[in-house]
Amino acid sequence: MNILATENKAVITLFGATGDLAKRKLYTALFKLYQKGYLQDHFALLGTSRHPYTDEEFQQVVRDSIKDVEETRKGEAADFSKHFFYKSHDVTKPEHYTILKKRIEELDKQFGTEGNRLFYMSMAPQFFGTIAMNLKKQDLLSDEGFNRLVIEKPFGRDFDSAKKLNDELSKTFDENQIFRIDHYLGKEMVQNIQALRFGNTIIESLWNNRYIDNIQVTLSEKLGVEERAGYYDNSGALRDMVQNHIMQIVAQLAMEQPVSFTDTDVRVEKIKALRSLRVYTPSEAAANFVRGQYDAGNGTEAYRDADGVAPDSGTETFVAAKLMFDNYRWSGVPFYVRTGKKLADKFTRIDVVFKKPLIDIFADPRHESDQTLNSNVLTIFVEPKSGFAMQLNAKRAGQGFTTQPVDLKYLQSDTDKKESPEPYERLFHDALEGNHTNFASWAEIAYAWKFVDVIRKLWDIEKPQFPNYVPGSMGPAASDELLARDGRQWVYRLNH
Ligand SMILES: NC(=O)c1ccc[n+]([C@@H]2O[C@H](COP(=O)([O-])OP(=O)(O)OC[C@H]3O[C@@H](n4cnc5c(N)ncnc54)[C@H](OP(=O)(O)O)[C@@H]3O)[C@@H](O)[C@H]2O)c1
Repeated sequence: MNILATENKAVITLFGATGDLAKRKLYTALFKLYQKGYLQDHFALLGTSRHPYTDEEFQQVVRDSIKDVEETRKGEAADFSKHFFYKSHDVTKPEHYTILKKRIEELDKQFGTEGNRLFYMSMAPQFFGTIAMNLKKQDLLSDEGFNRLVIEKPFGRDFDSAKKLNDELSKTFDENQIFRIDHYLGKEMVQNIQALRFGNTIIESLWNNRYIDNIQVTLSEKLGVEERAGYYDNSGALRDMVQNHIMQIVAQLAMEQPVSFTDTDVRVEKIKALRSLRVYTPSEAAANFVRGQYDAGNGTEAYRDADGVAPDSGTETFVAAKLMFDNYRWSGVPFYVRTGKKLADKFTRIDVVFKKPLIDIFADPRHESDQTLNSNVLTIFVEPKSGFAMQLNAKRAGQGFTTQPVDLKYLQSDTDKKESPEPYERLFHDALEGNHTNFASWAEIAYAWKFVDVIRKLWDIEKPQFPNYVPGSMGPAASDELLARDGRQWVYRLNH
């Protein structure tokens, strides 16, 4: 146990306690917080779902879920699981909430949690509004301590549905009580964007349209839709990845320096950045967005052949786009983004491409086409490796004078990686601490939806020419053409 860790005290009520996310991520995240001392004696988790379990059966579910995490002392997992309790509950039945209320009050007394309550909605989004309403109506909120709501994605499917959901939640919780999960914000290197930018004069002083030519963000997945096909076919890459994760990463890259590194100040700047993102007209959207869907190939089936997908599905499994910010810092600098399934590899990276020197004094005047200098590129490796690299030009060793690109590189060691909390551990801890920095605010979500809705509407009208890319590639040819049109290319490309 980390003796410097401050203990968080709360009763956590988890809706969806038997679900996939809870079993794969949430119990492990809590166990790690327990091992580090952020959770000690004064916490309890009340799990709920319709399935009937006794407390003991549920504690076994929890122990099974954390069995791969090494104990730091004998009996640790068993002790941890004694903080878990269960009530069978149908979230649509108001009378069930009275039973939950009574149990929460008992646990509060038993574990000395000082009236602190954290409600975690790990369920299908159609229930979010109903749960929030009943928490208020059936009086489950505490008068002492804090009341906080952690809510899973997706937050709506367009601006209107997101607003409706937000209005429903707002009847029970204030904005400063709501923690909207975007697990990309819990990733070490996404958080490192701010350290790199605002902790280094050498980087931040060049972080603008005078020195940066373009920025590229790639979230590439190797897998297809697998067992999520039913959900995915209703969502598509634009809603599933662009509206949330990509927008959040781009906002951090584009934002101004906050007055301080507090959640309030960081949010102000992210919101300002998203406000200046150019919302496209339909014809601009058509020119600046590319969609794709994977075909069969390389030994795998086509998206349209997956179970749960319509044989003529027009759902995109790939998106590439050019985004523009209309503000003083970024005017004229394209942010190219792309994400897709069944691509060449699984990774997330950010490439910041700097402008070349105005005059290349090393070019040989006898050969007009000779280009010796490369652009400097700062690459932030988000996953699976974490770190960054700066590509510079240096003299090639030996006779004569030619230059070559060389890398200054930092990659996290395996020990660093082991010590870095998983996104859910970090985010759970932040919510228990009441720190909003790594959660999406309503204003950010609203701007992101307004931007994405234009594209969605356009794509819903026009039938796409799908399928249009082969598994194992980096998406359709149009994605490369999007940059080629501007005289640019993706920094990460196959066979490069
Ligand atoms: N799984 C992931 O990797 C993942 C990743 C990112 C985000 N998310 C988000 O996390 C949330 C949960 O996802 P999941 O994959 O864990 O879903 P899931 O496996 O389908 O679990 C849903 C949970 O809701 C419970 N439930 C359903 N209807 C209920 C009702 N009427 N009353 C009470 N409980 C009810 C289910 O238990 P019973 O059937 O026993 O009631 C189950 O515990 C979703 O918002 C999802 O989008 C999931």
